[in-house]
Amino acid sequence: MTPAAALTVLLLQLCLSTAAAQVTPGAGMPPPRCPTSCGGVKVPYPFGIGNGCHRPGFNLTCDRTRGGEPRLLVGSDLQVVEISLTNSTVRILDSAGQVKLTFSGGLDGTGTWGGLGAGGPYVLSEMRNHFVVTGCNVQATLVGDGGVVGCCSSFCSINDRWTGVVTSSAGYGGAACSGIGCCETPIPIGRPSYDVEMRSLDASNEYADRLPIAVRIAERGWFEGASTTLLNDSTGYSPSRQPAVPVVLDFAVDSKPVVLPGVATSGCPVDARRSACQSSHASCHNVSGMYRSGYVCRCLDGYQGNPYLAGGCQDIDECALPGMCFGECTNTAGGHLCWCPRGAQGDPLIRNGCIKSSLGLSVGIGVGSGASLLLMVLGAILVSRKMKQRRAKMLKKRFFRQNRGHLLQQLVSQKADIAERMIVPLVELQKATNSFDKAREIGGGGHGTVYKGIMSDLHVVAIKKSKITIQREIDEFINEVAILSQVNHRNVVKLFGCCLETEVPLLVYEFISNGTLYHHLHVQEPAPSLTWEDRLRIATETARALGYLHSAVSFPIVHRDIKSQNILLDGSLIAKVSDFGASRCIQVDQAETATVIQGTFGYLDPLYFYSGQLTEKSDVYSFGVLLMELLTRKKPCSYRSSEEETLVRYFTASLAAGKLVRVLDPQVVKEGGKEVEEVAVLAVACVRIEVDHRPTMRQVEMTLENLGGSHGSFVMHDKDVPKYPMIEGMNMEETSQQYSYEAEYLLSSRYPR
Ligand SMILES: *[C@@H]1O[C@H](CO)[C@@H](O)[C@H](O)[C@H]1NC(C)=O
Ligand SMILES: *[C@@H]1O[C@H](CO)[C@@H](O)[C@H](O)[C@H]1NC(C)=O
Ligand SMILES: *[C@@H]1O[C@H](CO)[C@@H](O)[C@H](O)[C@H]1NC(C)=O
Ligand SMILES: *[C@@H]1O[C@H](CO)[C@@H](O)[C@H](O)[C@H]1NC(C)=O
Repeated sequence: MTPAAALTVLLLQLCLSTAAAQVTPGAGMPPPRCPTSCGGVKVPYPFGIGNGCHRPGFNLTCDRTRGGEPRLLVGSDLQVVEISLTNSTVRILDSAGQVKLTFSGGLDGTGTWGGLGAGGPYVLSEMRNHFVVTGCNVQATLVGDGGVVGCCSSFCSINDRWTGVVTSSAGYGGAACSGIGCCETPIPIGRPSYDVEMRSLDASNEYADRLPIAVRIAERGWFEGASTTLLNDSTGYSPSRQPAVPVVLDFAVDSKPVVLPGVATSGCPVDARRSACQSSHASCHNVSGMYRSGYVCRCLDGYQGNPYLAGGCQDIDECALPGMCFGECTNTAGGHLCWCPRGAQGDPLIRNGCIKSSLGLSVGIGVGSGASLLLMVLGAILVSRKMKQRRAKMLKKRFFRQNRGHLLQQLVSQKADIAERMIVPLVELQKATNSFDKAREIGGGGHGTVYKGIMSDLHVVAIKKSKITIQREIDEFINEVAILSQVNHRNVVKLFGCCLETEVPLLVYEFISNGTLYHHLHVQEPAPSLTWEDRLRIATETARALGYLHSAVSFPIVHRDIKSQNILLDGSLIAKVSDFGASRCIQVDQAETATVIQGTFGYLDPLYFYSGQLTEKSDVYSFGVLLMELLTRKKPCSYRSSEEETLVRYFTASLAAGKLVRVLDPQVVKEGGKEVEEVAVLAVACVRIEVDHRPTMRQVEMTLENLGGSHGSFVMHDKDVPKYPMIEGMNMEETSQQYSYEAEYLLSSRYPR
């Protein structure tokens, strides 16, 4: 908060607090000698236990009949575990399983949920609950007032019929409930009760006992925590072992609007304050909707406590809260003031935001006459403008220090000076792009924008700027600088420099004029695409760049995201590999390194996807897919054959069946001749499931370079790889294994990036 704003707030608050003090407290004191808790659960007014302790409709009971800890109950058997006046919610534990299904003829049946009493204070909170169904091949429908309000179906995957293992989406680490083994759907409008209808979609009863079948209304997020035990195959389904399910109810205070002539009735009834919102620092909110009418009371901002009691809302002492103010702090009624100490300036709301001032531009807040206050306010506005400029400058400096630190950490020490020389000042880039003018944009992916710029030395450059500032993004940009500053290859895009003065660094590359390989293959349709010669050369150049990255640099670099969008073409269609944000260096002594999975669906090595073990062979897989894309001119991430097979699978099967032509780009068939099949064999070798049977990038490069030569056969350097490149290796065993990996991988529905 700037001092100017702070002063105004102070003045306003002085006026407000005197006004508030004049309001005489209402008569509704907390009823004396009423129990305030039961079984460890606090019971705040308007809730209460016993006669005269509660507002009508808010009676609860404290059940001590069972022995042990007493239980707080609403209605006859719903246990209350938490009451929140701030959120106007009551959390209950549905231990009996309110949905009681009457099974008649297989699984099909109906049940009901709720019975909270229409017209009472409670409805199901639509914001905080979900309709959750678990089981295999079942469909459940939620019915409210005779109409369908929600429906979801849960299936188990077909491919697992072979293994007999049921795959639920919960198995993939994230415990998602997304239609496989479990489904959940929001509840549109909260009602006091629902009907539930259930149908089995499994005519042959094959899946009937695979997963526990249950229909529940549950608090959002509950399933994630409970899924592992709920879907545990070995424990099986037993209706008697229904876990207690948390459900959140919204409550509201009944309103009997007193309509006075000439008084607007929007919001709360005029008597609301008198009848319910007793605290003088409370506000009243109309929450009437289709299935309920009523209002709730809330403490004003800066206050906390019970708005339903006179004097219930108490001022919060913000100065005592951690992280609220890092300068001098004064608590006020309903707020606080925060400023930098005398002789310092900056932003007192951030840690170390106040900087000792050498100019002596400090503002003291004191009590003065009206005139001097006015002068101070005017002065403060001027000062705050000046401070804003200083703050921007300070931020630039801070980002620079941070980013440079990260960068240096990533680099081996002797290379550090190379990177240091690459640092470009922000002003230079602003000049080059006309302050990042929209007209200079030449592309933008999901998370960044690329600008074309002309540097003062007349070099044309491409500048990559991130849209979002999250740590991962920053790490990727730094990573790219670290990797590219060590790489110098004709077929790898050249990094000229980087700017570290923004939160996410800006990267400056050589400008590649002819767009991406993806654009040439897929966007320019239906015009004829690249010639076969060009495609073969681009493949060879890409292979050369990858071969170099994998072996020639001081330690191997795995690109991790080889795809046609990341191959740029220059004016003479020379390939340049780009986008090293996801790349990783592999230490020489460890052949593989465990990482977070990154890459693009369609190009991603299934084995890497499953094991997370990153090796150079993951790039070989992606490169194999790229070769298939060049041969077929089909998009690997979206292509499906008539039998719903992926490009990799269909290509492999076509080659094995001797029907390669059906999948090839007609232009390739026309121009390519005998070479085409050799490249196809190479592509299939690259995407083998067995990592050891894939060729290395160097072998791929050699093979491509030798194509069209006199012998036309593969150059083998590594005699340890006997199966490669035998075409009879494409037996059914391998292709079916590949199929099940792919199918499973498709089902998992979690595609990184
Ligand atoms: C609350 O009071 C009503 C009416 O007196 C009664 O029907 C209901 O059972 C009571 N509820 C509880 C939880 O005691
Ligand atoms: C109140 O709502 C907030 C936001 O949805 C939530 O984080 C918090 O846990 C809720 N508090 C209670 C006591 O339910
Ligand atoms: C499933 O239940 C069995 C037996 O109760 C237990 O040993 C196993 O750890 C459980 N599995 C999971 C994933 O919770
Ligand atoms: C409260 O809101 C509902 C629906 O928005 C409206 O019909 C009703 O008149 C309002 N009540 C009062 C007292 O203003």
